[in-house]
Amino acid sequence: MAAYIVEDTKKITTQKIIQMKKDGKKVAMLTCYDYTMAQIVDKAGVDIVLVGDSASNVMAGNLTTLPITIDQMIYHARSVARGVKRAMVVCDMPFGTYQVSREEGIRNAIRMMAETGVDGLKLEGGEEIIDTVRGIINAGIPVVGHLGLTPQSVYKFGGYSVRAKEDAEAEKLMKDAKLLEEAGCFSLVLEKIPAALCQKVCQSVSIPVIGIGAGSADGQVLVFHDMLGLNDGFKPKFLRQYAQLGAIINEAIGQYIIDVKSGDFPNESESY
Ligand code: KIV
Repeated sequence: MAAYIVEDTKKITTQKIIQMKKDGKKVAMLTCYDYTMAQIVDKAGVDIVLVGDSASNVMAGNLTTLPITIDQMIYHARSVARGVKRAMVVCDMPFGTYQVSREEGIRNAIRMMAETGVDGLKLEGGEEIIDTVRGIINAGIPVVGHLGLTPQSVYKFGGYSVRAKEDAEAEKLMKDAKLLEEAGCFSLVLEKIPAALCQKVCQSVSIPVIGIGAGSADGQVLVFHDMLGLNDGFKPKFLRQYAQLGAIINEAIGQYIIDVKSGDFPNESESY
């Protein structure tokens, strides 16, 4: 496997992300939740590090993203922001922090920015939250939209199946994408929708569309644990696994246990 050569080491901004689409360059986004991995992810050269509320699943073991709190997201985001020098860092606003009212959404967004050091926020939804999105952007905060399978609405959808297969939902998604672009979002995540619909959105908006389970787009995002093989039971069709770190870690820990139990570790050179 080849290392990616980072040509431009300058900090990535919203303007750079928007320009990438104009230049025909794809955006690589990856989730991350802690300082040590953030340093590795940033050095590898991703464009956007997403502190996803998928932390609720992969870090805390919850079944959905709903239980994670704003304080927990702030903790993860602050840790990641400390580890990243080049990439843009975007943090998910967690469930319940922006749906109640525009004012509460703006207040929580300001708090998340002020307390974490991230470069922008991501919110799930279209028309229903558009006034809040406008208010957050008016407060000077860069926003990434998120449409399609929006995991904070899993109970409304009744599961994690592909969204917008029917005409009505596809039309609403197209309208929502335009609304989010007009509101000033600098990018848009489309999750688990038909590839043809994702292509239509890519062609109808000028901001980069970042797909996950949505076929080819202006960029892609994956969850760190999933793409590195740390999340054993999760292997949907859209996921490409680039390593089997779970198996490598298991083997290393197994050897450590054998060495401890046999008395081989520590040896003389490892002792004071
Ligand atoms: O929380 C998350 O990891 C996300 C990505 C899957 C887009 O929102």
